[in-house]
Amino acid sequence: MTLFSKRKSLEQITFDAKNHGLKRCLGPWRLTMIGVGSTVGAGIFVMTGTAAANFAGPAVVLSFIIAAIACLFTALSYGELSSTIPVAGSAYSYAYTSLGEKFAWAVGWLLLLEYGISAVSVASGFSSYGVSLLQNFHIDIPSYLHNPTFQPSLGGYGKGIIIAHSIDLIGAVSVLIASTALLFGVSESATVNAVIVTVKIGVLILFVAICIFYIQPANLTPFIPPSTGPMNFGLAGVFRAASTIFFAYIGFEAVSTAASEAKNPQRDIPFGIIASLVISTLIYIGVAFVLVGIVPYQKLNVSDPLAIAIDFIHIPSLAWILKISAVVGLCSVMLVLLYGQTRIFFIMAKDGLLPPAFCKLHPKYKTPWLGTLILGICVAIATAFLPIDIVSDLVSLGTALAFAIVCFTVIWQRNAHPDIHRPFKVPFGGFTLKNIWIGYVPLLGIICCSAMIIPLLIDMIYSIFNHNPVPIILLISYSVVGFLGYYCYGRKHSLLGKDINNPS
Ligand code: ALA
Repeated sequence: MTLFSKRKSLEQITFDAKNHGLKRCLGPWRLTMIGVGSTVGAGIFVMTGTAAANFAGPAVVLSFIIAAIACLFTALSYGELSSTIPVAGSAYSYAYTSLGEKFAWAVGWLLLLEYGISAVSVASGFSSYGVSLLQNFHIDIPSYLHNPTFQPSLGGYGKGIIIAHSIDLIGAVSVLIASTALLFGVSESATVNAVIVTVKIGVLILFVAICIFYIQPANLTPFIPPSTGPMNFGLAGVFRAASTIFFAYIGFEAVSTAASEAKNPQRDIPFGIIASLVISTLIYIGVAFVLVGIVPYQKLNVSDPLAIAIDFIHIPSLAWILKISAVVGLCSVMLVLLYGQTRIFFIMAKDGLLPPAFCKLHPKYKTPWLGTLILGICVAIATAFLPIDIVSDLVSLGTALAFAIVCFTVIWQRNAHPDIHRPFKVPFGGFTLKNIWIGYVPLLGIICCSAMIIPLLIDMIYSIFNHNPVPIILLISYSVVGFLGYYCYGRKHSLLGKDINNPS
């Protein structure tokens, strides 16, 4: 059994890219909107609070910076690969041309975490802010209709799990509505997305601009609270929070999944990826700083921390605006994540690694309608049962691994195909070790992404001893299903080498 299995040639992948049947209608700013739309969501609206309260205190601001640095190296690597291999399928396609089919499958499976499963967390966030907004209209949704079945037990995050008599119906229905919107076509969805993103970013900037005048310096001291456990506070806590916060950055590279629908993919995809990351980072640092500046971090272990911050400064009108923007903004994240996932499934099904249902295009809307429907139903079911904290940690872990593979792919491609045209290259060069070129940026990307994974793994193991085996069970089950999926279906049905798509 060889590790590096059969590969797609660059010629074939470019041929596939020209013959996909999707419309080319997205320019650089609409692509950036897709990136920002899928990035700024539950991470900032929900997890900033839990990360500060459980792991980092005010130093959650540092956690945002650490996670951003890991993402920056990855964004630059994505930039190079997406300009060189401008096709849909993102990291999956890059792995297919370089590391081979097994790695491509593994990356595709990790991307399902990054897009499909992260939509579960976003839907949970939507549910929290949606219910909070309805309360402003004096409409109370019973808690058994907006809480998942598995919940952290009293004592908080990572301290055990209970099975409650509830399901998150609000979150599940929101997923089904977003999936239905996607059935009607990317062009309309991307336009709606652009409007929503503008509102979402505008409101977060307003939040920072108003709240900055209410910061209490006492809330920021000590900036890094002393450690109270292996991953709670202290320097380890800052890194643990960075792993949680990493979730907030997921999505900037969703731009690359839209390569098949970009007007000028080689120029616009790298632009969209890097612009999305820079815009999101600036907003996150501003919002996180203001949040821990006005609310003592111990009070932030809630599902709507930004709303709590506004209650603290008593500006009810801002609370309304913020909740509406959070609800609408989280919808946009859901849309883009589900969009990205359906396009990855689309390209995997075209390659024969998934059943043909995932690449069946709607005759009128030209969207992979059946795949979108199947995905929507699965994500809705997961939303109903699983809690945001556990799901988002799993998502961060899988994404950090996928990002590390992307960085590695840059190094591999440079050595395997040194002469192909690269419209965008990772900056700062590299060094040569035993005739192998190693770029500083991709190498740092691999190191930083690994640094995001380690605290999550330690915490998952630690949770077992706190009577919460759910995270590790989910991780192992997910890996086993992925492994069986390839050996029982993907490998047997792969079209690579069977010549139906072959350009030659
Ligand atoms: N980054 C996205 C969010 O924070 C997934 O919701």
